[in-house]
Amino acid sequence: FNVPAPVNEPVLNYGPRSVERAALTQALQEGRAKQIDIPMYIGSEQVRTGKTLEIRPPHDHKHILATYHEGDAEHVHAAIKAALDAKEAWENMPWEDRAAIFLKAADLLAGPYRAKINAATMLGQSKNAYQAEIDAACELIDFLRFNVHYMTEIYAQQPTSGKGIWNRVEFRPLEGFIFAITPFNFTAIAGNLCASAAMMGNVVVWKPAPTQIYAADVVMQVFLEAGVPPGVINLIYTDGPVAGDIIFSHPEFAGLHFTGSTGVFQNLWKTIGNNIHLYKSYPRIVGETGGKDFVLAHPSADVDVVSVALLRGAFEYQGQKCSAASRAYIPKSLWPAVKEKLQAEMATFKIGPVEDFENFINAVIDERSFDKLAKYIDAAVADPNVNVISGGTYDKTNGWFITPTVLEVKDPYYITMCEELFGPVLTLYVYDDADFSNVMDIIDNTSKYALTGSIISQDRYAIAEATHRLRNAAGNFYVNDKPTGAVVGQQPFGGARGSGTNDKAGSMQNLLRWVSPRTIKETF
Ligand code: NAD
Ligand code: ALA
Repeated sequence: FNVPAPVNEPVLNYGPRSVERAALTQALQEGRAKQIDIPMYIGSEQVRTGKTLEIRPPHDHKHILATYHEGDAEHVHAAIKAALDAKEAWENMPWEDRAAIFLKAADLLAGPYRAKINAATMLGQSKNAYQAEIDAACELIDFLRFNVHYMTEIYAQQPTSGKGIWNRVEFRPLEGFIFAITPFNFTAIAGNLCASAAMMGNVVVWKPAPTQIYAADVVMQVFLEAGVPPGVINLIYTDGPVAGDIIFSHPEFAGLHFTGSTGVFQNLWKTIGNNIHLYKSYPRIVGETGGKDFVLAHPSADVDVVSVALLRGAFEYQGQKCSAASRAYIPKSLWPAVKEKLQAEMATFKIGPVEDFENFINAVIDERSFDKLAKYIDAAVADPNVNVISGGTYDKTNGWFITPTVLEVKDPYYITMCEELFGPVLTLYVYDDADFSNVMDIIDNTSKYALTGSIISQDRYAIAEATHRLRNAAGNFYVNDKPTGAVVGQQPFGGARGSGTNDKAGSMQNLLRWVSPRTIKETF
């Protein structure tokens, strides 16, 4: 199949006086100056219910950025109907036309919408320019372009035929509609959970996290402008449990494409299991969920590599990546040098609103997250068995700011070594150099999640041992690198255990979950 070969979108750098920074600054100013009113998108309608809720930047919670219209049960029913009404025309559209729509969406994001989608992600989710660029622009563009390529690879997978016999496989979309539930932390994930299913001929009801609606609205505008027909993707802002009650008891419910926390996903799975007798087909359940991601340094490790892996892995986007390094295991021999580097670098971190491009650290997403993190930090500060190496404070005067915090613990099973906090808190355990092997057991035992992890080492045997011994502790394993920043097409992303169904976002495996193959044998 002759589709354009996918190439990763180059990351723009937004340096001072660059044209990119000027365009982004203008988009940020326009975003702040104009309080927009965001509708739901159901079929061909933009729906305003009159029941409005406010969106405020997490780093500036006194400012109202936008309002959005909350939906109720009626809108969930309407979205399902719109999706099912759009289904036949969409699944009968030649795949080349579906592909062209999503390639056009990628080009819109790469060009005319780039500043707008980045500004929306910066303001709504408190991401700095670089973090927005690698998410809302590059990763979403890559998801769209690479998935179109993988789609053609799927359609090309055909069985052999013999004399007088023609065998073929038709990759049909699922019978019914897909429910996409998306988290606050990545705009790219939101776009991808809808687009990957839709690309394969499915129709979608999409419910984003309320803290993501400001950027979700721009993603939806891009899809519509690119030519996604009305009803193929329906964006609703109905409370999750209300939407879930209706959708998970609908006979045409055909699949859940979820990214979010482990607890929520497990409850949704239970509901689907309890309702299994209601559905026409067994629904596909794809979920990427929580993480408690690790960095393991071997005594042979380069101290600079360890420090950069920790600083970038733990604190970029305030540690609110499912892949963030939130626990580390450092050998005693390296600890003084690593500690000195961490403290020196963290003293230079600039913290503040996203509009100032010099700020590396911005706010955490909302008050609930702020309160949760503050509680863990207070408990750690008061605990005589925990050393606060850096941070340990917070400030909510203007925004939900948590000072990046490093905790050194005596107990490798201390609560912040085990639980996902989802914020800028890194917990370290310093081990005797001779205990490298035991530490791998501790890591594996502590991994109820298994999303990402890193080994930092200059010793080839230690790398090989860790790669093997920790094979079930991470779906994405990094050698001499931070555990974040997977690139579509290069490091297919996803984890097992409590971290998800490991269907690897942005891959052929993921797209295969959204088709139901039919085998046809014709005899001549
Ligand atoms: P969350 O679980 O709080 O919310 C995720 C989505 O589920 C939101 O849209 C939310 O409104 C919805 N939801 C919540 N309860 C619901 C219910 N009862 N019925 C229907 N929908 C419901 O997660 P979050 O705070 O938005 O995102 C952070 C979490 O996502 C972290 O645990 C993080 O590790 C995880 N995450 C995982 C990956 C991955 O690839 N593994 C990627 C990004 C985020
Ligand atoms: N794909 C994102 C990362 O690897 C979550 O950091």
